[in-house]
Amino acid sequence: MHRQNNMVKKLVLCLVTLCLAFDFITPGPLHEDVSMPMMPRAHKKPGPVKSIFKRNVIGCQNDTQYPFQGRCCDSCKPGSFAKRKGCTKDNRTTSCEKCIDGEEYMDNYNYHPKCLRCSHCDSEHGFEVEKNCTIHQNVKCRCKSGYFCNSSEPCRHCAPCDECKGGKILESCTQTNNTRCDRTEIVQDKKAEIIAPVVVVLGISITGIGIMCYVCKKKKTAKYNVKEPPNGMEMEPLHYPDLDLLPHIPVIAEEMLLSQVMSFVRRLNMTPNRIDVIMNDNPNNAAEQKIKLLECWYQEHGTKDAYKTLITTLKDLRLCATADKIQEKIDGARK
Ligand SMILES: *[C@@H]1O[C@H](CO)[C@@H](O)[C@H](O)[C@H]1NC(C)=O
Ligand SMILES: *[C@@H]1O[C@H](CO)[C@@H](O)[C@H](O)[C@H]1NC(C)=O
Ligand SMILES: *[C@@H]1O[C@H](CO)[C@@H](O)[C@H](O)[C@H]1NC(C)=O
Ligand SMILES: *[C@@H]1O[C@H](CO)[C@@H](O)[C@H](O)[C@H]1NC(C)=O
Repeated sequence: MHRQNNMVKKLVLCLVTLCLAFDFITPGPLHEDVSMPMMPRAHKKPGPVKSIFKRNVIGCQNDTQYPFQGRCCDSCKPGSFAKRKGCTKDNRTTSCEKCIDGEEYMDNYNYHPKCLRCSHCDSEHGFEVEKNCTIHQNVKCRCKSGYFCNSSEPCRHCAPCDECKGGKILESCTQTNNTRCDRTEIVQDKKAEIIAPVVVVLGISITGIGIMCYVCKKKKTAKYNVKEPPNGMEMEPLHYPDLDLLPHIPVIAEEMLLSQVMSFVRRLNMTPNRIDVIMNDNPNNAAEQKIKLLECWYQEHGTKDAYKTLITTLKDLRLCATADKIQEKIDGARK
């Protein structure tokens, strides 16, 4: 009994050893269906065994080969695509074709039926070409100058850089970071923007008022100069001198119409009788009538205040221009 038991144990051990040895040597497909049920439960190591099976099944280099109908075929190189997928038992090469340069690319070993289209850098979104598209690599875009990428990689949108209008640039714009502006200066500038026009308007107003005042003053001074000249002599008409008017009467008469002389003497209370006598004494001689009327008035009135009375009365009679002329002539004659 004991011997028989030992014999059975030896047989099982031998079988297991044989089986394991067979497992490592035999190629996968053949072994796949047979070995699993035969695997003794006690010695089963799922991890390693499984990986061995997989390697045997696919057996292809994962980057440069691909499985096809139980075989491994060579992948197409970057820059090409698989015109026809698959290969023969004897020749593992795949029928590949180059991508169209500048339009398509393939950046990996592959067995795709066609190349990938090149992207394009959308200038409307602030992009420009950094690297042109080749058959091996898609186009590389970057933000054009004056733009920065706000989002994280891959960049989907380029935003225009801040220009720091009126402010100081602390840090220039980069591909990934916006310009850093000195905000305090911008704030000050905004203040200045508000203050500047106010200052300008104020300035203009003050200047305007100044000019107006200056003009007013000048006009006033000018008027003053005409009316009241600083010259003492010419101030005299205000205090009319008691001069002898007799020598001046012809001149005065010359400046006045007969009607004006008559109005003058009437105003100064010469009697109508007297006037009539003088008029009749010098018929048809207006010049003489004027002179006689004035001489008559002057003699009655007397030297005192005669000049003043003459001028003020003429002005009362609204004969200001005549009064001025007479004054001018008398003053001129006196000098
Ligand atoms: C290909 O296999 C190698 C190991 O053989 C591994 O390091 C690599 O990551 C694999 N590549 C892919 C794309 O699976
Ligand atoms: C890309 O190619 C075009 C012509 O196809 C050329 O004008 C341009 O300079 C190239 N750009 C770069 C970044 O190489
Ligand atoms: C830029 O990104 C920030 C967040 O990172 C966001 O608040 C801001 O609105 C973005 N600006 C633009 C112009 O996309
Ligand atoms: C971009 O700005 C961020 C903060 O907004 C900062 O942390 C980062 O260092 C900046 N990068 C560069 C390149 O200036």
